[in-house]
Amino acid sequence: MNKVYVCHKIPEAGLNLLNGKVEYRCWDGDGPVPRDLLLKEISDVDGVITMLTEKVDSEFFDNAPNVKVVSNYAVGYNNVDVEEATSRGVKITNTPGVLTEATADIAFGLLVAASRRFTEAERYLRSGKWTCWHPTMLLGREIFGKTLGLIGFGRIGKAVARRASGFGMKVIYHTPSGGPATDQGDGPRWVSFEEILEKSDYLSLHCPLNDRTRGLIGKKELERMKPDAVLVNTSRGPVVDQTSLYESLRDGVIGAAGLDVYDEEPISLEDPLLSLENVVMLPHIGSATREARDAMATMAASNMLDVLEGKEPRNPVN
Ligand code: DGY
Repeated sequence: MNKVYVCHKIPEAGLNLLNGKVEYRCWDGDGPVPRDLLLKEISDVDGVITMLTEKVDSEFFDNAPNVKVVSNYAVGYNNVDVEEATSRGVKITNTPGVLTEATADIAFGLLVAASRRFTEAERYLRSGKWTCWHPTMLLGREIFGKTLGLIGFGRIGKAVARRASGFGMKVIYHTPSGGPATDQGDGPRWVSFEEILEKSDYLSLHCPLNDRTRGLIGKKELERMKPDAVLVNTSRGPVVDQTSLYESLRDGVIGAAGLDVYDEEPISLEDPLLSLENVVMLPHIGSATREARDAMATMAASNMLDVLEGKEPRNPVN
């Protein structure tokens, strides 16, 4: 029987699929599996189900001589050296599609929360500062009629655009991997990178992290944005230069931000971003619904089994 290592306990829906088909071991501790242990655990397995917390690099493959498949429990796979895997004949798979709506909800939720100052307002209430209703208390920004810029227009970007149309927003988008696309009708319109920075009242990032997008939004780009713009990031932290973002939020270069992802995760409690009122911060919960996580587990297990049974997986990356 093939052997599989699962780097974190995934929902039963996925583990049940593995039962009886492969012999599997599973890390069930707090936090990510310690690297030393991981490298030992993968020494005799045919497949590994990884989380975005596992670096799948040449050291990983050196320690996993029998591995045929790495099934990443995420749609993003910036934690995996795909070229290295391909050169070693290892199949990589991911979990696209099933977390689209959950992640789009979080992106749109962050947009509204940052714009209307939800967390700041809650802190205000809880700290006893709310002494009376008054006309200029905690004023935020209007959303209706404003322009939403989307960087990346794949499944999640499009799902955010659908939500935005319900809020009466105008949607423009830019695709770092190329364009312009052939847009039809009066739907979202492709614009250049410069134009999206300058025209967006809200800018939401939905591109993968790769060499082209690392540091895509830095000091120069933030300075090009509207002074009251709201930046939303549910993609990967390093798409934004976090120090420049902090300085821009502090100095009023842009208005606010809603973040689900960071340079380092978990973000340090000493990070200066946490000292700002105009940023709403979540702990990378874009796909964290029961439905999405169950579906991701089923997909990750099926991709794994497909490869081990000699079939083409449903969601190949390489
Ligand atoms: C992903 O899938 O890439 C998310 O960041 C975690 O679900």
